Amino acid sequence: MSILITGGAGFIGSHTCVEMLNAGKDIVVIDNYANSSPKACERVKQITGKDFPYIECDIRDEEKLGEIFAGYDIEAVIHFAGLKAVGESCQKPVEYYDNNVGGTVTLLKAMKKAGVKTIIFSSSATVYGGTNPVPFKEDMPTGGTTNPYGTTKLFIEQILKDLCAADKDWSACLLRYFNPIGAHESGLIGEAPNGIPNNLMPYIAQVAVGKLKELRVFGNDYDTPDGTGVRDYIHVVDLAKGHVCACDRALKVKGCEIFNLGTGRGVSVLELIRAFENANGIKIPYVIAPRRPGDIDASFADVSKAREVLGWQTEKDAVDACRDTWNWQKNNPNGYDD
Ligand code: NAD
Ligand code: WQD
Repeated sequence: MSILITGGAGFIGSHTCVEMLNAGKDIVVIDNYANSSPKACERVKQITGKDFPYIECDIRDEEKLGEIFAGYDIEAVIHFAGLKAVGESCQKPVEYYDNNVGGTVTLLKAMKKAGVKTIIFSSSATVYGGTNPVPFKEDMPTGGTTNPYGTTKLFIEQILKDLCAADKDWSACLLRYFNPIGAHESGLIGEAPNGIPNNLMPYIAQVAVGKLKELRVFGNDYDTPDGTGVRDYIHVVDLAKGHVCACDRALKVKGCEIFNLGTGRGVSVLELIRAFENANGIKIPYVIAPRRPGDIDASFADVSKAREVLGWQTEKDAVDACRDTWNWQKNNPNGYDD
């Protein structure tokens, strides 16, 4: 039996493919390559020495999904496919709701038709909104998202909760990622954002490689130890391994379960810059700039539930992630483009 991985050519998806294959699982990848390249799947094969099918398919295409479920013996779905640019979601809210929420509904319909009732979903710490105290715990209230992207995650979580309440045969694992960074240590797969990166780590990496002049640090007057924003940066390989544990769990236990996937430690913007400089011996020029609208002062996870229930915890730290990001960036300055 195979695990279907939607969005498997993307940043977190490709790393999860590696860890699933390393764990001896069979996988089938689907992706529409809206924000990725099929080359990532070839690199996954190169890293693992294992073969798997990867198919161009949009999760909104119910007919094609039906053919894929009919063609492979799928027991569960790990669902990464979605658009994720916060700023773009404010410009194009309908596209985001259509792709992320509409796409998930179509996927669920196809799963139901095929009798596949186990799903692991990529949620986000953004669902905790701006008023909960850190560290964020799974049973805290959600809501208060400040952009349509975040709201799609909130809506999809609710859909999956409702589905599990209505039909006891379903199993949904909602994984709330904190801030994924890093790359596979081979340097063959990593994060390849289109255009100018929105997120801190890829921005730092592009400053380091000389594509961007300097980093703007968005605000140094937050209520944090050094005044800059604090986040829980999790190495993408640790995050990927969390999916192997979550998938095993969801195949055993029915109902809806929620897990934070983070390190449990907060790191400031200035600390991450220093970690990158120390790990790689490269100076990152930066200037202090105004706060970015919608940002909160601090976000980090309480990770006890994932540790206790999934038996999972992170093994890598921010320095490992900085080293691996740089190894990926310097070897692939244009991502998967030649
Ligand atoms: P990514 O953009 O690299 O990967 C998403 C993949 O989904 C891409 O390969 C894209 O081409 C594909 N995709 C998008 N719409 C699709 C559609 N309609 N049909 C088929 N494929 C489609 O992003 P990522 O960082 O790997 O994120 C994976 C998931 O995790 C996303 O759902 C994202 O919202 C979520 N997430 C990411 C972060 C983060 O900071 N990276 C944090 C929290 C949650
Ligand atoms: C981290 C810190 C910035 C860029 C976002 C989404 C979230 C999730 C992960 C994905 C903050 C500061 C950033 C820069 C900076 N989504 N920063 N200069 O905002 O925590 O989370 O990505 O699917 O939903 O909101 O991550 O990397 O953008 O920012 O100073 O050029 O770095 O202010 O404190 P964020 P980020």
